[in-house]
Amino acid sequence: MAAELYEIKLAGIVQETPDARSFVFEIPRHLRDKFKYRAGQFITFEIPFEGMQLRRCYSLASAPETDAWPKVTVKRVVGGRISNWFNDQLSVGDTIKATAPEGRFVLRDGADDRPLMLFGGGSGITPVISLMKTALVTTRRNVKLVYANRDEQSIIFKDELDLLVARFPGRVQVVHHLDADKGFMKPEDVVAEMAGFETADVYTCGPGPFMDTVEAALEQIGVAREHRFFERFVSPVDPDRREEAPAVAAPAEGGAPASFRFTFEGKTHEVPYDPSLTLLQAAEKAGHRPPSSCLDGYCGCCMALKKKGQVVMASREALTDADLERGWILTCQSRACSTEELEIDYDAPY
Ligand SMILES: Cc1cc2nc3c(=O)[nH]c(=O)nc-3n(C[C@H](O)[C@H](O)[C@H](O)COP(=O)(O)OP(=O)(O)OC[C@H]3O[C@@H](n4cnc5c(N)ncnc54)[C@H](O)[C@@H]3O)c2cc1C
Ligand code: FES
Repeated sequence: MAAELYEIKLAGIVQETPDARSFVFEIPRHLRDKFKYRAGQFITFEIPFEGMQLRRCYSLASAPETDAWPKVTVKRVVGGRISNWFNDQLSVGDTIKATAPEGRFVLRDGADDRPLMLFGGGSGITPVISLMKTALVTTRRNVKLVYANRDEQSIIFKDELDLLVARFPGRVQVVHHLDADKGFMKPEDVVAEMAGFETADVYTCGPGPFMDTVEAALEQIGVAREHRFFERFVSPVDPDRREEAPAVAAPAEGGAPASFRFTFEGKTHEVPYDPSLTLLQAAEKAGHRPPSSCLDGYCGCCMALKKKGQVVMASREALTDADLERGWILTCQSRACSTEELEIDYDAPY
């Protein structure tokens, strides 16, 4: 079931850098409960573009505890359709269609005694600064941010970060890495920045190669997987860019169990399985509402850990090779492909 869309009004625009703008939305009173969010989550927008309705996700750079209204920040991508549309076409007072906030790139419950290490690259600062604000205001955690940018003028939220450093003396460090001065970040830079933060929960968001560098370094120094969190910024494949119909339309081969089990919010359910359905659709058909947003394999919202059984995925865009090796699946893209018993867990720590 596609996530429901709501009309929200643009209340303010801030030019953050030459190629990035923030958009602050006013949420009507009747939608305020729906738009409650956790730091690190994102909103999916639906934009009319050349006769199509295109969807894109944007992380909230605001934090519920520190900002009155939700704010997203969109950086232009060369040749990109919607990032440029946001920066060129939107004016204060316009309304836009958006889903309620979603996402799993959030602070782990019960981790308040751990330091927080944040790696942000370019526009990847958005969910990271949101996590930072919430952690500083609601916990006693020490926070370190390593923020990589092309050059000085590409730094988004420079003033806001300076203010956080001044407001929480001794609790927050911000290290700027400028490619123009030092070249792209290397694994040894990440290892050096991690000194003293080896026990931290580590959150990373940025361009693909930046994320790969951080991930390789964390692996090298043995940061446990349950303490690493990644958010990937990818676009869906727009309808006119699809070479063929989405493969989720194809029935699964190899048979399927008559039912499967899934754990969600601490409860395990057994639901009937019809091989023409994805696991997410089967759970929804049985009346459950596990998390989902894009239904297209790129937002990662519907991730679950496969504990038993076999599935095929039509798309795995939001998952890394390491995720796949560990058994993570996108339930909006997965169908059972063997009669083996099948069990998945939405609650498993990432
Ligand atoms: C959970 C999540 C959160 C995100 N949060 C943010 C955020 O806070 N801020 C932010 O700026 N971005 C964010 N993004 C990324 C954002 O959703 C878009 O992917 C980004 O803005 C680019 O979209 P676009 O429409 O401008 O570019 P697209 O049109 O999607 O194109 C992207 C690039 O691919 C090329 N391309 C794609 N397909 C083709 C094709 N068939 N032929 C030729 N070229 C092609 C384009 O030229 C361009 O360089 C997030 C993504 C996710 C999944
Ligand atoms: S709902 Fe977005 S990847 Fe499945």
